[in-house]
Amino acid sequence: MTQVNVPFFRPDVSEAEIGEVVAALKSGWLTTGPRVKQFEEAFAAAVGAPYAVAVNSCTAALHLAVEALGLKAGQAVLVPTMTFAATAEIVRYLGAYPVLVDCDPVTMNLDFGDARRKLEALRAGRFEIPGDSRVVGILPVHVAGLMLDVGQLREFAAENDLWVVEDAAHAFPAAWRPTPPKAWERCGEGTAAVTCFSFYANKTITTGEGGMATTADADLADRMRLMSLHGLSKDAWNRYSGGRSWDYRIIAPGYKYNMTDMAAAIGIHQLRRAESMRLARQNVAMRFFKALGDVAELDLPPQDENRVHAWHLFPIRLRLDRLSVDRNTFIDGLKDAAVGCSVHWRPLHLHAYYEETFRWRPEDFPVATEVWERLVSLPIFPDMREEEIEHVVASVKALCLAHRRSPARALEVRS
Ligand SMILES: Cc1ncc(COP(=O)(O)O)c(C=O)c1O
Repeated sequence: MTQVNVPFFRPDVSEAEIGEVVAALKSGWLTTGPRVKQFEEAFAAAVGAPYAVAVNSCTAALHLAVEALGLKAGQAVLVPTMTFAATAEIVRYLGAYPVLVDCDPVTMNLDFGDARRKLEALRAGRFEIPGDSRVVGILPVHVAGLMLDVGQLREFAAENDLWVVEDAAHAFPAAWRPTPPKAWERCGEGTAAVTCFSFYANKTITTGEGGMATTADADLADRMRLMSLHGLSKDAWNRYSGGRSWDYRIIAPGYKYNMTDMAAAIGIHQLRRAESMRLARQNVAMRFFKALGDVAELDLPPQDENRVHAWHLFPIRLRLDRLSVDRNTFIDGLKDAAVGCSVHWRPLHLHAYYEETFRWRPEDFPVATEVWERLVSLPIFPDMREEEIEHVVASVKALCLAHRRSPARALEVRS
């Protein structure tokens, strides 16, 4: 019997994307041009945002967003510890400081209770950050593609006079609603001052590398566009394709973050298939729920009838009290069974830079410190074949069975 080999992710690229890239290459216009404009307009319509600025990564979009909002050196921003490097590093790019916040134990989204505690502790001088310590914004992440409670976010931001930039790297297409019959709101549809999406190779739609910042604020959109291309008064597209002159003005020391037309060529077609790819990922998730729902050694990710879940990730949490191995050994077992998996994430406070620079301690983030040791992200992607889904399920179940702790031992470990 041939061994089924399941990668952690396989991008779903159709002939339409390939044809469009070839057409872009043949058009003679390779950098930011008509396809980027078309992609921006279609993306803005898809999320219901008045403005969309295409860039070469979500990291770039996040950086442009906080710059446009006026983040200054010495100020501080609330950032979840349970996130990827990008969410916090872009705060440091501007000389500002991330104040890390613990997560919810089930969704792993930012915990507003801890955000309040961190603000109070800062005001009471129980911990210090360099600079003027003024917290001016919050940068929540919708972990795995499950949006956090945007109502709570708005309330918290208003109470504390904070701007909101959403890290929606995982959350396209995604939506939330308060309790019915209140209407659905799409991620990016006014859910923050700026919402930043990722089109990295393993994201829900891809351009290879790429990102998008959406906003309802014309000034923020203008500033992000300007800074995405060296702070030039007009971008290359306007200068060359619009039949305008060779001249331009440098208004600010900007960055080089523009998206190419070759990347946008992929994005245009990925966007058209975004909902069908989301449904395909959702089907895989439902198969996992059905097949793994009664495995006592696992906690499966949450579902919520008031969310449209993007299902970028399927993070399971191991019940280590019921297993005789740790998470890393469990992952080694999956690797031996040719099942690609990952961990999202080692929390930021457990990385050398944040530990050494800010002196955070694991006890400052008890939930993230505990939960990350249990995390395993299973493979989930749109064109996952039946035998691949079955192989993941069988391998996970076999490992749980092989390393099941006896009930008596489990009780001992828990008490
Ligand atoms: C939560 C989160 N934010 C930001 C990023 C950065 O995205 P990009 O690679 O497009 O810059 C990632 C990438 O994986 C991510 O997971």
